[in-house]
Amino acid sequence: MDPKKPIIALDFQEMDQLEDFLNQFQEPLNVKIGMELYYTSGIAMIHALKDRGHEIFLDLKLHDIPNTVKWAMKSLAKQGVAMLNVHAMGGRAMMEAARQGIDKGVKAGQARPLLLAVTQLTSTSSEQLHEEQLVEVSMEESVSHLAKLTQMAQLDGVVCSPLEAKALKAQFGSEFITVTPGIRLNQGGDDQKRTATPYDAALNGCDYIVVGRPITQASDPVEAYHAILVDWQSGLAEKNKNF
Ligand code: C5P
Repeated sequence: MDPKKPIIALDFQEMDQLEDFLNQFQEPLNVKIGMELYYTSGIAMIHALKDRGHEIFLDLKLHDIPNTVKWAMKSLAKQGVAMLNVHAMGGRAMMEAARQGIDKGVKAGQARPLLLAVTQLTSTSSEQLHEEQLVEVSMEESVSHLAKLTQMAQLDGVVCSPLEAKALKAQFGSEFITVTPGIRLNQGGDDQKRTATPYDAALNGCDYIVVGRPITQASDPVEAYHAILVDWQSGLAEKNKNF
């Protein structure tokens, strides 16, 4: 998957909405498919997207016993997607099993999908962390600990906020991949609170950005996509100048 292009989160519930959206674009895209669409249209949709030249982050966030996750990942790795993910809360053994499953499933000559972990969901508040999960450390410590487990299990990196990326890179090295949602060109009135512009995300060391509603709900999605692409690429150029 080309890191110079944003990943568009295709958070549609119906296939015809997806079709209408994609038909506006003439170019191959990086796209993220979540469980809503996958549970509706599954593998057939993945193949249809690939046939149109799109690269896919299949965001299913697996979390189960290691053996189940291993065989599920083996099956998903055969589909030729570029990225897959699990919940780091499933533990080191589960993440290692996920990686083994991918290695078994990848077909000869096919690139191995990147395997990422979700640490704490951005929808989890500090109160929930303490009162529901009975975690006594801070949110930052919990995220950092789960990222450490992720690295120990030899996954490629984490999904995190653009504001966490710099600290995680400093802690775990530049090779540890950060994939970041919460991207806005201007702060809009939606539910994402801890946001960054594509340009600032690039300067923070984010490797890939995921952008949903600012593109999918825009009056002109193609124009919105290109505005984000330009901002992201100018941030990447600025970052590379400083190296
Ligand atoms: O529409 P928006 O740009 O907020 O979409 C961001 C995408 O990233 C959504 O698909 C959302 O579920 C996902 N995501 C997120 N925060 C996380 C993990 C995933 O916003 N921590």
